[in-house]
Amino acid sequence: MQNYETEATWHYHNGTKHPNGMLLNRFHAYHPSHRPSPYKIYKNVPQVSIPLDKTPIGISALDAISMENSYRHTIPDLGVLGRILYFSSGITKKIKFQGLGEIDFRAASCTGALYHIEIYIICKDISGLEAGVYHFDPKHMKLDTIRLGDFRKFISNATAEEQFTSQAPVILVFTDVFSRNSIKYQSREYRHAFWDSGTILANTLAITSAHKISSKVITGFVDSKICQLLGLSISEEAPIAIVPIGQTVQEAPAFPPLQEINIEAVSSDYEIEYPEINAMHESSCLLTEAEVASWRRQITLEEKYSARLIPLGKNITVQEPLEKTIIRRGSTRKFSLEPITFDQLSTILNHATSRTNADFASQKSLSDIYIIANAVDGLESGSYYFVKEKNSLEQLRKGNFRHASGNLGLDQDLPYDASVTIFFMSNLDKILGHFGNRGYRVAQIDAAITGGKMYLASYALGLGATGLTFYDDLVTNFFSPHAENRETMFLMAIGKKEKTT
Ligand SMILES: Cc1cc2nc3c(=O)[nH]c(=O)nc-3n(C[C@H](O)[C@H](O)[C@H](O)COP(=O)(O)O)c2cc1C
Repeated sequence: MQNYETEATWHYHNGTKHPNGMLLNRFHAYHPSHRPSPYKIYKNVPQVSIPLDKTPIGISALDAISMENSYRHTIPDLGVLGRILYFSSGITKKIKFQGLGEIDFRAASCTGALYHIEIYIICKDISGLEAGVYHFDPKHMKLDTIRLGDFRKFISNATAEEQFTSQAPVILVFTDVFSRNSIKYQSREYRHAFWDSGTILANTLAITSAHKISSKVITGFVDSKICQLLGLSISEEAPIAIVPIGQTVQEAPAFPPLQEINIEAVSSDYEIEYPEINAMHESSCLLTEAEVASWRRQITLEEKYSARLIPLGKNITVQEPLEKTIIRRGSTRKFSLEPITFDQLSTILNHATSRTNADFASQKSLSDIYIIANAVDGLESGSYYFVKEKNSLEQLRKGNFRHASGNLGLDQDLPYDASVTIFFMSNLDKILGHFGNRGYRVAQIDAAITGGKMYLASYALGLGATGLTFYDDLVTNFFSPHAENRETMFLMAIGKKEKTT
């Protein structure tokens, strides 16, 4: 099976490492004036307006990201669906930049603000919306109609009858438009497909939990089937994750005959292709329902720690509702050098690492969390390993590592100035051995969802945060010998925002 020929992942992963990845051209240049349109445009399709009510429903961001997501028998109406879409990927602010005009910023962070993740909706008849297949248009808060009829069964077949998917009244599909992001990041883009879906998913899981509606992240599906339903060309736009929302008592009925889609749509301004992206994506595709069914197995990963552990501090409670936190969230552009408190760091770790409801998730996350504490009141400066099982930190080395922190985060000021940098690192060998090449997708998205939760937790506490990219192997070296055999998946920097005058 191609999915288990995992040298494809190592070729891609090693080849897209900063600074010397052989699949990256170091002389590649991107100017923001070449930024592609971040919206997929469907021409001449019927649209449905989404009523949008942003009123908070009273659940705090910290609670929403850590609530057990197992509500039953809930069917969202169009209004609630609109809120789920808006607080996942809607426009939350507009900023004018000299020479570039006004840029729409969205509910979740995204590398380069290139917004290459699209969301589709497959639903039964719900209040306010006819059964069909739709595309979310965040610019106009509308749905583009792609098909009418109940096609949920088609999706649940493609997931080998995954239970949440089979019983959901509404199913979201997240896709990635490769060229919209590769125009800047070249073939490293494929990592961003999962990073930038993950930050959106953190919001989706939180807002559905706040509404007491079940949701789950499904990463195992027959890729070609999803493309067929949505009318996508897999070399341009690929399905990344499926999110069943809510639960009905009845299973979905047989789906109507599948006609070929004949709709004009523009998903990207550029037709550039990076063969490395397509090769990595194809090698991690699951080809049949039988393959999906046998792929979906729990993995066991252990934490390794010594006896000397530092228990996490107090959990802080915050009342600000999730919706307000999402609207206020941004990526901090300048951190002050001031410390955060150990209780703040503890609260972020505690809430953001709560279990994600996903088809790959076991009790333990697929990535380990390594921390550089530059300035944390109540915690000695140094490097740490987070032992989730014991709610504790293990100190690896003490010392002032600000320079290392800045260096590992691609020599940027942000990781130097931040109070902490948090690195997500995975034992890729083990994960690929279990999940095959598909494990690469899963490891990336798992880390990114937790990263997205950290954004929300940090902002809920009145702090700043940003995702960052990194020099892959330098991170492993820095945290070794503890992090030997671990590959870096994601990086967050957290601290106090510098006050602008
Ligand atoms: C995974 C990830 C990596 C990022 N890497 C960097 C980075 O290396 N440097 C940087 O200045 N911003 C980085 N960002 C921040 C994005 O530029 C930012 O999310 C985007 O401009 C959208 O703005 P917003 O988050 O304020 O909505 C990153 C964001 C994410 C999600």
